[in-house]
Amino acid sequence: MKLPNYNDAKNREKVDVKYLDINIKYDAIYQGKKYFLRTYGCQMNVHDSEQIKAYMQMLGMTNVEKLEEADVVILNTCAIRENAHDKVFGYLGRCKHLKKEKPNLIIAITGCMAGQEDVIEDIQKNHKYVDIIVGTNNLYDLPKLLIEKSSKQNIEVYSNSDIVPENINYERDSKICAWVNIMYGCDKFCTYCIVPFTRGRERSRKMEEVLEECKCLVDNNYQEITLLGQNVNAYGNDLHLDYDFADLLENVAKLGIPRLRFVTSHPWNFTDKMIDVIAKYDNIMPYIHLPIQSGSDKILKKMNRRYTAKEYMDLFNKMKEKIPNVAITTDIIVGFPGETEEDFQKTIDMVNFCKYDGAYTFIYSERKGTASSYMKDDVTSEEKEERLHRLNEVVNKYSKESNMKLLNKIVKVLVIGKSVKDDNKVYGYTDTMKLVNIDASDDVIGKIVDVKITDAKSFSIDGVITEK
Ligand code: 5AD
Ligand code: SF4
Repeated sequence: MKLPNYNDAKNREKVDVKYLDINIKYDAIYQGKKYFLRTYGCQMNVHDSEQIKAYMQMLGMTNVEKLEEADVVILNTCAIRENAHDKVFGYLGRCKHLKKEKPNLIIAITGCMAGQEDVIEDIQKNHKYVDIIVGTNNLYDLPKLLIEKSSKQNIEVYSNSDIVPENINYERDSKICAWVNIMYGCDKFCTYCIVPFTRGRERSRKMEEVLEECKCLVDNNYQEITLLGQNVNAYGNDLHLDYDFADLLENVAKLGIPRLRFVTSHPWNFTDKMIDVIAKYDNIMPYIHLPIQSGSDKILKKMNRRYTAKEYMDLFNKMKEKIPNVAITTDIIVGFPGETEEDFQKTIDMVNFCKYDGAYTFIYSERKGTASSYMKDDVTSEEKEERLHRLNEVVNKYSKESNMKLLNKIVKVLVIGKSVKDDNKVYGYTDTMKLVNIDASDDVIGKIVDVKITDAKSFSIDGVITEK
């Protein structure tokens, strides 16, 4: 039993990372049993779930879509905002209910909530029916805990880890697009963010390992790779070697994957070298997610974001200038403690300046243990709601404008799958990451096709294929 501990997370030592080979084979001791997996939150969690699926398969289990059919339930949770937390607890209620009917049901919690000290205390006291809790830094312990399962709640969460797992046999969801972790954790400590606590210190994979995984994906005919990290431009800082994210990106691009992407970039330390690499390679997609969070220098400072509005704008301009046709999206938080109407207006000014292709907008949510949770929050919830509403109107205006620019144009779309709403349609993404619904049959799935855009609205774009 190892409980999450925020002091451990904060007082992380800078020791050299250890690479752990976790290509372990397990006996199929759960042969014939069924597991149900529910994933909340970001791409990192989605990719972690591909790891969980591999473990479950190795233990002999098959995946079911219905909770009621499961012998093992795994909730891969998110802690980024209060509503993510509420959703998980809502679902746990259903699991608890099911366990009354099926006493042998095993309930496991993984993901970022497992790393929250207060949440785990609550689960220990009030949710004793939860059997297993595993942290993000030692997800590889999940099969071990399932094998050792006893009647006692077993919690294994490492808030501070120097381990980089290697040789993970992912059970990938897609045969077309793949996620590849390049690093784990985050050391930025933006004051509102729980991630540095739940995912630990920044640890980079070695370039050779990343390249080997990517090469294997290219050999298996994958069309797209997305390099994943909480903050990809910090890649390599901890390795003390002579390469950085720009070098890694360039080397992956050279492997010849048709489409290469990366998330997420911090505006601080986004180097000219990185911009040049993105601009140089046709297979690095002209799309950058560049979270601004706020347009006010006062708030950016309180958030510990390490850049000013002016520095962000200069970076933004440089990207637009050097990378042809680049699309830029962002994340914005409204109602951070101390945000005045004037500060909020500066955020609106920033959106008007950048005219983002898209933006994810959030109301500030206090996360226990973070630095901002100790700041006086003097913005009322009505003000926060109202600011979000006003912000969304401006944001939506620009995403619609950006979509409208595609009307009657021919764009390249990587077709991902069948449309859920319409059997005669498929969907895919432009190089700039815009979702397009296409009138076409299944045989184009997995291909990059030329599509003429016939309709463009705020949230949807339609098109027809001009060539196969
Ligand atoms: N409250 C609201 N939004 C948050 N985000 C991260 N932490 C919080 C929080 N405490 C947002 C940021 C980040 C995105 C992933 O989630 O905008 O970029
Ligand atoms: Fe959180 Fe900031 Fe790290 Fe992003 S960069 S994960 S917002 S601490």
